[in-house]
Amino acid sequence: MEAKERLILALDVSALEEAQQIIQELRGYINIYKVGSRLFTIGGAESVKMVKETGARVFLDLKLHDIPNTAAKTSEVIAKLNVDMYDVHCLGGKEMMKAAKEASKVSGNPLVFGVTMLTHLNDGIIKKELGMSGSVEEEVLHLAQLAMESGLDGVICSPREITAVRKICGSKLIITPGVRPAWAAPHDQRRTLTPKQAIEAGADYIVIGRPIIEAPNRQEAAEKILREMR
Ligand code: C5P
Repeated sequence: MEAKERLILALDVSALEEAQQIIQELRGYINIYKVGSRLFTIGGAESVKMVKETGARVFLDLKLHDIPNTAAKTSEVIAKLNVDMYDVHCLGGKEMMKAAKEASKVSGNPLVFGVTMLTHLNDGIIKKELGMSGSVEEEVLHLAQLAMESGLDGVICSPREITAVRKICGSKLIITPGVRPAWAAPHDQRRTLTPKQAIEAGADYIVIGRPIIEAPNRQEAAEKILREMR
């Protein structure tokens, strides 16, 4: 896959017009856009339609985490929006993940990914605050295994876990956020690698938001990242 087919830009902005302007600006650089909870709350289905109309692909990142029936019905609606990929939270369990995947086949057959652990979490937080017993890596591997047993198309994990997750996922797909070029601020991301390291570790797709969105020159930032990925 070409670098451009692997880079997903997180459209974390506060207005549909702003998102539209960024897509225009990055035409030729970015081919896949992540519509997350912020933009979707603002623009709803219209935000997905707007991106699709530009010819780009859409990853709808709503991290569904609900009872199986609700996750399935929502997956049906998502599939009918013609998104290319979307995600559910692995902590919803196998019954929920299987129901979502099955329901998504109603239209277009989007790729369904399982979110393992959010990338701002670390061992201290998940043990002390959340009361989990394993390390982040142990929990991620366990959740990735559940996603595979549920028939999902891939998982989302931090770059630091890619190598271990690959052993569980085989040829299924890995999306990794929490990627930070050496020249960019980490923001609230904790378990980061650079784009080059993430690709070398075996990521199929990398998600990047603020290092491009907040760059003084977005095209230059995107190009620098693509170059690193090649
Ligand atoms: O701006 P930044 O590059 O940190 O954006 C990363 C994007 O990836 C955000 O939209 C965030 O919601 C998303 N994400 C994440 N960690 C996950 C899943 C999604 O950071 N585990």
